[in-house]
Amino acid sequence: MYIMHRILLTGLSTCLLFYIAIKYTLGYWKRRGLLHEKPKFLWGNLKGVIQGKRHVQEALLDLYKAYKGRAPFIGFYACLKPFLLVTDLDLVRNILVTNSGNFTTRGMYNNLKGEPLTGNLLQLDGHKWRALHGQTVEVFTSSNLQKLLSRLIAISYRSQQKMGQFKLKNVNISHLVDNYNIDVIACMTFGMDLAADKEEFRQMSQRLWHNFSLWRAYLALEFPFLASLFQYKNYDEKAVSYFYNLTLRQLEEQRRRDRQPLQSFLQLYSRAESPLSDKEIAAQAFAFILAGLNPLNATLSFCLYELAQQAELQERTRAEIEAVMKRHNGQLTPDGLKELQFTKQVVQETLRLHSPYPFVVRRCTKEFEVDNSVFVIARGNNIIIPTVAIHRDPSIYEKPLRFDPSRFDAAAQKSRPAMSFLPFGAGLRGCLASQLAEQQLVVGLVALLQHHRYAACANTTIPLKYDTKNLLLLPKSDIYLSVERVES
Ligand code: HEM
Repeated sequence: MYIMHRILLTGLSTCLLFYIAIKYTLGYWKRRGLLHEKPKFLWGNLKGVIQGKRHVQEALLDLYKAYKGRAPFIGFYACLKPFLLVTDLDLVRNILVTNSGNFTTRGMYNNLKGEPLTGNLLQLDGHKWRALHGQTVEVFTSSNLQKLLSRLIAISYRSQQKMGQFKLKNVNISHLVDNYNIDVIACMTFGMDLAADKEEFRQMSQRLWHNFSLWRAYLALEFPFLASLFQYKNYDEKAVSYFYNLTLRQLEEQRRRDRQPLQSFLQLYSRAESPLSDKEIAAQAFAFILAGLNPLNATLSFCLYELAQQAELQERTRAEIEAVMKRHNGQLTPDGLKELQFTKQVVQETLRLHSPYPFVVRRCTKEFEVDNSVFVIARGNNIIIPTVAIHRDPSIYEKPLRFDPSRFDAAAQKSRPAMSFLPFGAGLRGCLASQLAEQQLVVGLVALLQHHRYAACANTTIPLKYDTKNLLLLPKSDIYLSVERVES
């Protein structure tokens, strides 16, 4: 009886302590005296998100709509983690650009011992990120991109050739764009042969995410110490070792043929003034797949999906491509690429409406006094900039759910406030590869649209559904369209 009492009492005290600890954690914004959304026990303000029932973008849109205009920033909780959500674009600029030195950290989980490839720019913070960032910016320069452009165009031309005489009712567009982006990353990042079979590369890039679950990712973010202690792994081990070994093999090959012309980012990394170690280079090459592949695939698929439903816009884009090619002897040239103004606007409008990264995160590293407020953002506070909600704010983009590339003509762009278009984030920790990604998207769109017309078919899901089990904004399932060849 006595033992039973002891067990019962211990159990009750543990539950009580647990309850008090959670209540205390969820009282953080109240104690700081900040306007905040009332949290639900355990879930905070993200009920349904961690369980994969609704996409995080929906939660961010709801919060933004409820508080925009009432307060420049509010408190909310991602489960137990307190976050500041910023609704005011001046404050966004202050955090991302003007005072970016106070917000240099993102706070993502990495595990350098167990998973060395997590030592990439996206996942690193602090002095390790700073050193690597300094060494990497010289790789992503406009002049290097210009030098690699002819290789990008050659890859896109091959993808176009493979499509050949398509006239099919149900084409898996997601596969089509994945083939192009895999070819680009395999050849231009890892320096693989243009003609090599990329099947294993493609399989490994898919396998990478086999272990991913929102639950585990959240727990690793909330309890990084425990995650490291138990050696939590973000990515599939076989896939990681494949990319690691591939990088080492390719680097070795390149060093043997020292004088070959510039073909890949691996070459740029290994020829940099202050070169990285092979392991560091492997982690950066890995980031191309990690940070780039899914967003690039999603953007091109969403873009064709939108154009398939607006035949006039599709014809206008194709007509521009046709005219520019004619002016440049039927070839896509670097100068021609600059003239593809409307095609670029189509890509930008896709990035606005279906922003693959629906939010940007920062962690405060140095106390920051908010202008015109008594509130001080404390060291360690986490911040979310809700990109998706800014991109769909009707006071910035009229009828925001309409796909309308004219929003990105020069005059319209000028009329909008700074920080109203953030598909690549901004400032010190903005996407290093934004120029490369835009180039890859425009060149890919030219290859896909020049000789082929797209339309919705019986297998097209309208309206589009997003994958609620992912933090990125990706289609829930593969996108299908009918495709036919257009003779020019
Ligand atoms: C459509 C394609 C892409 C989109 C929409 C995109 C978007 C983003 C965003 C929103 C961030 C966070 C920015 C911030 O916190 O302010 C980011 C960071 C980053 N992206 Fe991209 N990205 C794309 C493609 C790529 C590609 C192809 C690469 C290849 C290297 C890449 C490399 C990186 C890296 C290394 C970072 C971390 C930079 C740092 O923290 O220093 N991204 N990207």
